[in-house]
Amino acid sequence: MSNATKINIEQSQAVRPQWTSHLGFILATLGSAVGLGNIWRFPYVMGKYGGAAFLLVYMLLMCTVCAIPLICELFIGKKFKLATVLAYQSIKNKCKYIGWMQVYTVILISGFYFVVGGWIIHYMFMYFINGIPSGTDYSLYFANFSSKTISPLFFAFLFLIASAFFPYRGVNKGIENASKVMMPLFLLMLIFLVIVAQTLPGAKAGLEFVFKPDFSKFNAEMFLVAFGQALFSLSVGIGALITYGSYLGKETNLVESSYTLIFGETLIAVSAGLMIFPAVFSYGLNPGEGPGLVFVTLPQVFEQLPAGSFFAILFFILLLFAALTSSISILEAAIASFREVYNMSRKKATIIVSVISAFLMIPCSLSFGIMKNFKIFDKTIFDLFDFATSSVLMPLSTLCLCLITGWILKPSDEIVNGNKILYFIFNILLKYVTPILLLFSLLCGLNIIKIN
Ligand code: PHE
Repeated sequence: MSNATKINIEQSQAVRPQWTSHLGFILATLGSAVGLGNIWRFPYVMGKYGGAAFLLVYMLLMCTVCAIPLICELFIGKKFKLATVLAYQSIKNKCKYIGWMQVYTVILISGFYFVVGGWIIHYMFMYFINGIPSGTDYSLYFANFSSKTISPLFFAFLFLIASAFFPYRGVNKGIENASKVMMPLFLLMLIFLVIVAQTLPGAKAGLEFVFKPDFSKFNAEMFLVAFGQALFSLSVGIGALITYGSYLGKETNLVESSYTLIFGETLIAVSAGLMIFPAVFSYGLNPGEGPGLVFVTLPQVFEQLPAGSFFAILFFILLLFAALTSSISILEAAIASFREVYNMSRKKATIIVSVISAFLMIPCSLSFGIMKNFKIFDKTIFDLFDFATSSVLMPLSTLCLCLITGWILKPSDEIVNGNKILYFIFNILLKYVTPILLLFSLLCGLNIIKIN
């Protein structure tokens, strides 16, 4: 390690910001976890893969193999008080390359995540100004809008600016305060909409769709989808949680905090299903619309619902808050590492990361329009970014995280506070079970192992 790096490490540790309270940390981390993955993706994936049967597998994975990388990331951040790259470098000099891989993965995620964020702002504005006329073919509307060149990009830039504003202001004034305002509001809106949904005529069918276990869907594919969904939804494996963990004080109990996060995150994902499906069934729409559920199916619900525009605005604000608190953590994970490695100011790092994200957003957004036919490995740029990050880079990074923590850092004893049984379980999960599952899911993602 060079002298300059050592100085950067010392400086970064010496002037480390800290969450002002445990609640601030929980809300910010929950904000990172709860995002489009929960509200947009989880409900339709759960519906597709057998409702409660999927939920069961999902919860089992969350509490066991997914909790491991979550605890490890927070542990690394808390121990070294450094963001991703320097934290890995402090474990072993060469591990810095893994750190960089995670930083680039998180920046790649921003490319497509922010495009969807832009769509949310667009829909919110349209409902605000009452601009989607009734009788619209929403499928066509969505296709028309997303395939334009300028306007989706304009909204994606707005979303980027809104996200970058908070890390630009700093950890406490920006990120923590944003989470303390947005997350409680998000939860209130969610509770309200879940209750309203239960008063609709399709509530029973919706509940059945979400909760009735269909064990015939129980197979390797469902298992892998649940695993991938759980990892993405927890924001693990790409250093966002190392970064948030690095702002922790000494007293935090990591195992307890991690399970609080898992519980909150799962409850919110299930609630999203309870909000969406009763409404979808009430109006005889197709719950299996897939990714179009939020942008095509739900607008049809809002059109028929009494005071539909009001509920639409509420729903898209809720979705915006969920997406924003996640995108803040996506940016912060990269910003904090740039800052520390290149010893630059937070403001400069925010601008650099935002400019890189902006450039990545352009091909992602255009891949719905003028670049629709530009394909690499038979995928549009948007799909390629999604695939490369969710199916390849995230499992790969999480695998590296587990191997480095389990075999080099060996923190099990510190994490379980000397409890022998827990030590045994944690060690087995960390060193063998989780890495093997991750490797399997990576090989399946790359189509090297075929499960169907
Ligand atoms: N967990 C977020 C979601 O569910 C996405 C995310 C992934 C955020 C990785 C940060 C890092 O939408």
